[in-house]
Amino acid sequence: MIDVMKAVRLHAFGGPDVLVYEDAPRPELKAGEALVRVEAAGLNPPDWYLRDGYRALPPEWRPNASFPLILGTDVSGVVAALAPDVAAFSIGDEVHAMVRFPDAVMTGSGAYAEYVSVPASQLAPKPVGIDHIHAAGAPMSILTAWQFLIELGHDEPNPFQSYRHEPVPLEGKTVLINGAGGGVGHLAVQLAKWQGARVIAVASARNAALMRDFGVDQFIDYKTTAAEDVVQDVDLVLDAVGGANMERFLRVLKPGSALFLVNPLGFTGHEEAEKLGITVSSTQVRSHGAQLAQAACLLADGTVRVVIDSRFPLAKASSAHDRAANGNIQGKIVMAV
Ligand SMILES: NC(=O)c1ccc[n+]([C@@H]2O[C@H](COP(=O)([O-])OP(=O)(O)OC[C@H]3O[C@@H](n4cnc5c(N)ncnc54)[C@H](OP(=O)(O)O)[C@@H]3O)[C@@H](O)[C@H]2O)c1
Repeated sequence: MIDVMKAVRLHAFGGPDVLVYEDAPRPELKAGEALVRVEAAGLNPPDWYLRDGYRALPPEWRPNASFPLILGTDVSGVVAALAPDVAAFSIGDEVHAMVRFPDAVMTGSGAYAEYVSVPASQLAPKPVGIDHIHAAGAPMSILTAWQFLIELGHDEPNPFQSYRHEPVPLEGKTVLINGAGGGVGHLAVQLAKWQGARVIAVASARNAALMRDFGVDQFIDYKTTAAEDVVQDVDLVLDAVGGANMERFLRVLKPGSALFLVNPLGFTGHEEAEKLGITVSSTQVRSHGAQLAQAACLLADGTVRVVIDSRFPLAKASSAHDRAANGNIQGKIVMAV
């Protein structure tokens, strides 16, 4: 007999209304895995990219899906079962993880469900003192900020460039973070402050008070002021937005500095950057339990906090995706199971 659980599944690509809350088989454990009873699942842009069938990609790159799919990389929950070869965790442990990313980028990592199987190497203990909602908001965003700014932590090929992404020392440096109120941005701001950087945050006006709380040194409302008109001699720009005209950030940087692009698709400034002596670099975040455990210490002691934009029940996943489609996200959207 197959064990049944509730999950949000996709039977076709499309808008938020293709997300269906229904019965699904509970995942079977493979060697090296834990079965996690999901308490909360965090949302990230790859969730809606896959829901839409990666329409922004050229047709030959789009997923060849076998439906039904279960979206969701970010989970916080409780270990319900373990493969016999897993010794690092016990049943009942509270854990969080970014699950199988990017390996399951085209098939769904399965966190929008009551249970998800997770390779034990991708699990970290849930930070003590924060709840499952906040712990589910952390994994992809904090691992992205960590792998861009602190330590890459792996030698897998980089889909965006032929050279390895190398974080740069931040202490005493001036770092501009664009998209500072978003999932990646708000955690990157706090990591850069923790490392001793002088931080310039670029975001919409509603994020100004939050940025003051984080201790940023300068705030720029991009809707009224262009960063390149008021800032210069920056040591590092982390653009956590992407889209049109990323090249404008070359104008705020000094020679020998770096421009890190979280979403590099469409960047055309490589030649100009080379003339200016600016390193341009990107990477794709990868699941990494040990790094998440390091970051969890900062979440547990309050050095870094996850801001919750909004929360929804799992059964209302389509409303959570509607919220994401409206943009201007401050922190993270999370679903409670
Ligand atoms: N390389 C990787 O492995 C990796 C990993 C994770 C995410 N990403 C990519 O990184 C990007 C950010 O991800 P996320 O999870 O942080 O998304 P998010 O939570 O939606 O944050 C994006 C933020 O950008 C702000 N924003 C929008 N337009 C802006 C503009 N013109 N100037 C400045 N800020 C603007 C938005 O709010 P306001 O407009 O209100 O300020 C929002 O806070 C996405 O494109 C995602 O696909 C890449």
